[in-house]
Amino acid sequence: MFESPLLYSLLLVIPYLVIKYGSLWRRSLTPNTKGITNKKSAFYDKSKTSSLEPMPADFQWDSIDPIKSYPFKNAAYKLTMGIKSLDVQDWLLIEPTYLDRIEEKTKIVTNNHPDYPKSKDLPQRTVFLTDECIPAVHEFYDVVVNYMCTKYPMYFTKSEDGEQLYNSITKEFIPSDSSKISGDFSTTRYLLLKLVRTIEEDFIILLKDPTRENEVDGTEYFFKGGVFAFAAGFNPNDRFNKPLSFIHHPIPGYESKLKVSMNRFFDRILPGQFVTRSNFSMQTHSQFYVDDKNKGHNNAIEEIVPLKLEDIDFEKEMHYRSERQVLTKLPKTGAVVFTIRTYLQPLSEVKRQGPEVRERLVGAIKGFPEEIALYKRSIEWGPAVIQYLEKDV
Ligand code: HEM
Repeated sequence: MFESPLLYSLLLVIPYLVIKYGSLWRRSLTPNTKGITNKKSAFYDKSKTSSLEPMPADFQWDSIDPIKSYPFKNAAYKLTMGIKSLDVQDWLLIEPTYLDRIEEKTKIVTNNHPDYPKSKDLPQRTVFLTDECIPAVHEFYDVVVNYMCTKYPMYFTKSEDGEQLYNSITKEFIPSDSSKISGDFSTTRYLLLKLVRTIEEDFIILLKDPTRENEVDGTEYFFKGGVFAFAAGFNPNDRFNKPLSFIHHPIPGYESKLKVSMNRFFDRILPGQFVTRSNFSMQTHSQFYVDDKNKGHNNAIEEIVPLKLEDIDFEKEMHYRSERQVLTKLPKTGAVVFTIRTYLQPLSEVKRQGPEVRERLVGAIKGFPEEIALYKRSIEWGPAVIQYLEKDV
């Protein structure tokens, strides 16, 4: 059939090259966020998200190993942005905690959590929307739905009429895109609650507010909407509708070490780019919404009494907490989205990771300067935690 050997080999080689280099080419379209300096191309290039790929067909959400979020260094603490570029593939995750955390969060945002009195009015502290943020919430909703359908097609499927999306883990339907509902305040708030049922991450939407440019820090990005249910030591409502510097004002050294670079970064991040940073802290209980119990106060050093090793239950009380945060910008509205994924585990579980993790954590706690030890309240838990981690099992 193929009389020319050359033609025959070309027919064999071409499909191979297309498969091999086609995927490399698609990957090369993924934005490289190292040294973000590109001020000109603030437009959306759809091809930049093309490297998002479905998980393998045998992916099982409840039997994979979750990320180990241990972002501590055996070294002196340095207040830096600490951001790294992230592949779009690693943005929103389904791990074995998915269903439990969604249930936990739902109880919080609907004021039905048994650990908190109704009078606390948790919805008012955790679910946020302003009129000017409505288009960004709709855009974010569509981005999330597309993301989950593309990455986890085994769990997210559209109904036959295309109107609904079925999540086979929660066994619920949600609107398949935001155009299915009107753009008023209450239906947009409804979309926020549907996002709670769809992703484990909290999400904060930030926008510039030209009407407030004359205020202090008024040219910065403002926290304009989102869901902040797993707050770590503050009432999110106190930070709502405020600029970034106000949000960060309790952090010692923020003004001198972070403010300028952070604002520059928010201005320059491009749609399709993803960066990540992580933090860690300790708390003496297992609650996810914490507005008071695990942060120090700047001038209250004498009020904080160090805990005693023998008084602490490291399986049930003392918990290690880490947030995996991801930032990106939405193409149409230009809103910056900040997703926060919280890992919370008994300290005993961290200790079981072995000597390398234990030593690194001890080194990081010892490396806190005094004002950070006060801010993170390690003056209280630090000595006992170090003793516990250094003690042979
Ligand atoms: C590049 C982006 C960001 C950087 C580098 C950053 C940096 C920090 C740092 C260093 C802290 C101290 C604790 C820790 O290590 O995490 C902190 C705390 C915090 N951040 Fe951010 N942040 C960023 C974005 C945001 C955004 C977008 C929000 C939106 C609301 C936010 C809200 C907070 C809050 C509420 C705290 C706790 C403040 C307190 O202790 O009361 N951060 N951030």
